[in-house]
Amino acid sequence: MKCCIAYASTHHGNTRKVVEAIAKEFGVELVDVTQTREKDLHDYDLIGFASGIYATQFHQQVKNFAQVNLPQNKKIFYIMTSAMNRDFSKSMEDAVGSKNATVVGKFSCSGYNTFGPFKLIGGTSKGHPDETDLQNAVEFFRGISAE
Ligand SMILES: Cc1cc2nc3c(=O)[nH]c(=O)nc-3n(C[C@H](O)[C@H](O)[C@H](O)COP(=O)(O)O)c2cc1C
Repeated sequence: MKCCIAYASTHHGNTRKVVEAIAKEFGVELVDVTQTREKDLHDYDLIGFASGIYATQFHQQVKNFAQVNLPQNKKIFYIMTSAMNRDFSKSMEDAVGSKNATVVGKFSCSGYNTFGPFKLIGGTSKGHPDETDLQNAVEFFRGISAE
């Protein structure tokens, strides 16, 4: 199965740690969308979009990348790290809404956050993603790629 994960991780590299853990285990191709704006994804069986969450949204570059490059009728998944560890994938709907994609899974974990006033208290979710988060991400990917 050919898989890639398009990601942006601009705050503390939290999301990068998660996607690198998956890539190390499974040999998935990683695309840093802050560096790469266009890529032919037609040959990929499974495409992930991964991002830190900024003001409740996936990174704008992840949205742009999906809008420009995601072909029709693909299997996709979402990975997100955030302070609140919630499902923020709704923010991708505008980007993928017209692509007839099938969302095969979503993974979320906490990510170290020093945005704004949180910096004054040493940040929140310090140490995350931790080893358990990374292991959970690997198991998440094992599950969706076996389907
Ligand atoms: C500008 C900014 C806005 C953020 N907004 C949110 C938010 O709305 N909700 C949330 O749960 N976390 C928020 N966070 C925390 C980040 O989502 C979290 O630290 C994430 O793990 C960062 O991922 P990264 O290191 O891969 O960029 C924000 C962080 C920054 C820097």
